[in-house]
Amino acid sequence: MHIDIITVVPGLLEGPFSHSILKRAEDKGLASVKVHNLRDYATGKQNQVDDYAFGGGAGMVMMIEPIARCIEALQKERTYDEIIYMTPDGDTFDQPMANSLSLKKNLLILCGHYKGVDQRVRDKFITREISIGDFVLSGGELAAAVVADAIIRLIPGVLNDETSALTDSFQDGLLAPPVYTRPAEYEGMGVPEVLLSGHEAKINEWRFEASVRRTKEKRPDLLEGSGWE
Ligand code: ADE
Repeated sequence: MHIDIITVVPGLLEGPFSHSILKRAEDKGLASVKVHNLRDYATGKQNQVDDYAFGGGAGMVMMIEPIARCIEALQKERTYDEIIYMTPDGDTFDQPMANSLSLKKNLLILCGHYKGVDQRVRDKFITREISIGDFVLSGGELAAAVVADAIIRLIPGVLNDETSALTDSFQDGLLAPPVYTRPAEYEGMGVPEVLLSGHEAKINEWRFEASVRRTKEKRPDLLEGSGWE
């Protein structure tokens, strides 16, 4: 998978992709992420990428021309499965969306800033609008990093233990069960006996039941219609 990200603050995206799982995915050749500075596609002395909103009001709007030049240049190199705009008014990102995006080959993500992008960018280029939650960030960069992380870790071979993505919270509509590691006792606090038993079937049964219990307690909304209520 290849992900291109367009931003006016490329520095914000340097960290997330040079560490841990995302770096490993790049090193293994399973995913590549390239960050593009929108200012490289601006013209004029100031490299202007934003301007005042028609109709007035506070805040600047990202101009269509630099974005169009950037997207069109990138489209000469690849065909994108989706051109995504990160915005608080987009569809809320969730695990099913991450699963479906992880199957794509080429993604382009545009990060909004200021008051957002000229609506004509959205009308002309964007195929999908994604929000990571009902709150407003200063820009789409951190949201794009969240989405890229959630997608890339699902690509087969990226995680060391392939089954571990399958047992994540949400993957089967349930929250993940509690986990424990050594020591088996800490200040009088033990570990559920069954986890120390080595009996795989019983452990799986305990984990499933603990998942259902935890989901009922913390996120009963996830159980509606699941048959596990
Ligand atoms: N840009 C600003 N806030 C955002 C959010 N909540 N999700 C995605 N992009 C954003």
